[in-house]
Amino acid sequence: MKADCILQKLRLKEIPTLPRILEKLNKLTIKALSDLSVSDEIKSFFPNLTQKTVSFVEGEKGMHQKKRVGVLFSGGQAAGGHNVIIGLFDALKKLHPDSELFGFLGGPSGLIKNQFIQLDKGLLSNYLNQGGFDLLGSGRTKISKEEQFVAVGKNVKELKLDGLVIIGGDDSNTNAAFLAEYFSLKKINTAVIGIPKTIDGDLKTDSIEISFGFDTASKTYSDIIGNIARDAISAKKYYYFVKLMGRTASHITLECAAQVHPNMAIISEEVKQEKKTLRSLIEEICELIRSRASLGLDYGLILIPEGLLEFIHDLSYSSLPTHLQTQFLEFRDPHGNLEVSKIDTERFLIELVKIEIDKQKIEGSFKGTFSPQPIFCGYEGRSCFPSLFDAKYTYALGHVASLLIHENLTGYMALVKDLTKNVENWQIGAVPLLSLMHMEMRQGQLRPVIKKAMVDLNGSLFQKFKEKRNEWKLKDDYQFKGPIQFYGPAELTDNLTLTLLEDKK
Ligand code: FBP
Repeated sequence: MKADCILQKLRLKEIPTLPRILEKLNKLTIKALSDLSVSDEIKSFFPNLTQKTVSFVEGEKGMHQKKRVGVLFSGGQAAGGHNVIIGLFDALKKLHPDSELFGFLGGPSGLIKNQFIQLDKGLLSNYLNQGGFDLLGSGRTKISKEEQFVAVGKNVKELKLDGLVIIGGDDSNTNAAFLAEYFSLKKINTAVIGIPKTIDGDLKTDSIEISFGFDTASKTYSDIIGNIARDAISAKKYYYFVKLMGRTASHITLECAAQVHPNMAIISEEVKQEKKTLRSLIEEICELIRSRASLGLDYGLILIPEGLLEFIHDLSYSSLPTHLQTQFLEFRDPHGNLEVSKIDTERFLIELVKIEIDKQKIEGSFKGTFSPQPIFCGYEGRSCFPSLFDAKYTYALGHVASLLIHENLTGYMALVKDLTKNVENWQIGAVPLLSLMHMEMRQGQLRPVIKKAMVDLNGSLFQKFKEKRNEWKLKDDYQFKGPIQFYGPAELTDNLTLTLLEDKK
């Protein structure tokens, strides 16, 4: 698709600034560091993969060889994906002008079915700093069956790929680890490298500071929620129940709450820790509505994490709608995850709150009005133009992936670190995929999978939110973040999420 709007065209001209270390790309050499701890159980699934973490240093480097590399998007969209591919392409060409890049179509299924296109400068010239994954498309196919591994092995051998880059979240990088192990076992010389992608922000460890896409998504939602809050205090007649994307962890909800200061924000991890029941949650919301009504405030803003229902201790309720029970059973993706974006949690909570408020009206204990509006902040935050942070981060990640392939390292996640510093001072490295795994029950079987990072309830961001949230219940303190800025003063274009900043404290 030709980029034809002014902003699109201007963005195409902005080559993202690279960390200083990546400017010396062809002089960089690896330094293998210490072994990271991996349990024997996990090691038994990946006997051919390494546990050593890796960093890069400047040194004497011989001529780089020509490389043939495949790349694919996997899972949900996240802003900056195209910059990973362009960063990878540019770095491959800088290291050897005859290197070639192939893009598999529609996610892992393109790899299995051998559906790919060759990527060249002309084709890529329409995608720099743009949103979405539409250059190649994406998908959630799980690579688990023997015949799938055989097909992938045959395809990468036929294409003579030296490397395969998988741009994905936890499940996609679990796929990457299994492929790396299979290739090593079968002596297929294709290095597999993962790129930390997901708006959910749950691909986070001591070494992965944040997945790409989180910055853009949480800023996009904060902008939208701020606008909704402005509507709330203008009309003073609606209660907005805003469900926010983020399948399991509540990082996005917490970030948006810390930015916008809603009257209430539910954090799934806390609901689980405190064993909250559906009944107690509904009562908490009703209490908020009653207290505000007693001050003449018949409006408000409530944030709800998409994955909430899976964390509630006891879902039993006299009037649990049957359509919800059906959704619970039906919506599962190929990795066994509940497809929470398809469940109308915000509407469901409204239904139950309404029943309680109506009862209280009849009893005379509620004298206000309750007019709710359900809103879902979801897909629009995944495929929008990347923030400047995500644009630079992803372009750098693509470069790191190219270096790792040149070093013939397999089963690694590419890293860009020190992200709270200026881009010039960002550092690079890689971490073995194995070290990110734990054992988890999936579809009735205990399997090694990349561990999801949940909100840390002892962490500084949650603690700060906890200190403030009671004030925000009755005293409106809504903040209006406005849209993401790509051009202008650095304090606007380069501001970081609180999730990243607070983690670094
Ligand atoms: P990834 O983990 O693959 O990045 O996807 C995350 C996500 O955007 C979740 O926030 C959301 O629940 C889910 O994908 C929606 O999935 P789908 O695109 O299949 O509707």
